[in-house]
Amino acid sequence: MKKVRKAVIPAAGLGTRVLPATKVMPKEMLPIVDKPAIQYIVEEAAASGIEGILIITNRGKGLLEDHFDRAPELERRLSGDPNKAAVLEQVVGISKLANIFYVRQKETKGLGHAIRCAKEFVGDEPFAVLYGDDVILGEDPACGQLIRAYEQFGNGVVGVKEVSREAIRKYSSLKVEHIQDNYFRCTDMVEKPQPGQEFSLYSILGRCVLPPEIFDILDNTPPGAGGEIQLTDAMATLARRDGMTAVDFTGTRYDMGNKLGIMQASVEVALRHPEIGEDFRAYLKELCKTL
Ligand code: UTP
Repeated sequence: MKKVRKAVIPAAGLGTRVLPATKVMPKEMLPIVDKPAIQYIVEEAAASGIEGILIITNRGKGLLEDHFDRAPELERRLSGDPNKAAVLEQVVGISKLANIFYVRQKETKGLGHAIRCAKEFVGDEPFAVLYGDDVILGEDPACGQLIRAYEQFGNGVVGVKEVSREAIRKYSSLKVEHIQDNYFRCTDMVEKPQPGQEFSLYSILGRCVLPPEIFDILDNTPPGAGGEIQLTDAMATLARRDGMTAVDFTGTRYDMGNKLGIMQASVEVALRHPEIGEDFRAYLKELCKTL
């Protein structure tokens, strides 16, 4: 079995749920305390053993490339100040996290269409997908959990969580049978189910590991929900044909594509932050008294 060495991060969406913040600023660059969302995702991929990452971008997402590049002027300034040694190390470290490549999705035709842009990069290997606006924080990197399931069961893997009946309409719904522990066998799925169309309340949240056959399936996947080429529709074909493994991953997932998710991520990460955690907790406690 081929190792999962590559990852694709689709980050070419328009981020319309977070306008006007995302009019110019890519939502993947919105900070969670002191790091942009995409950096948490690249760190997760690197901690999962991924060697090469392709980020799918589009017009106006040049900031993403700059963030993972060296910054000679800034580095020169920081290196002249002994008090800034730690931050210099962080800044330089960002450019060494992984081997990162970029390709543009020329038209915003959906997540499935974005993943199709990775065909040449991926070649004939299994690969991980980390959605550019889903940050998952935890001890054990979520992407690595899915890769282990791929190595154990040998078929495509989706990262899932149970969501509420109201929330499932915005996500996908999976037909699953429990295998063992947090592993399920998935044999079908539907994107943005209408009431009554749900298979279960298990939904794909931000991570999958796919075999290269997904590209042929994507080529034959017509536009679905919202008129976009949906990755879920292609994965549904794969799940019905070969079965997939669903992993109810550990870790907390933050949806950086919506306002509440962004605030939850900021507050929770700030509370645990070594530099500001204590002060922020005291501030919140005081604030709560006045609410
Ligand atoms: P979303 O549907 O959450 O992204 O796609 P969006 O289009 O930015 O969201 P709205 O406008 O607020 O509803 C999930 C992931 O797929 C990427 C997004 O960047 C996000 O990481 N995506 C989506 C693409 O790369 N290309 C697309 O055409 C659509």
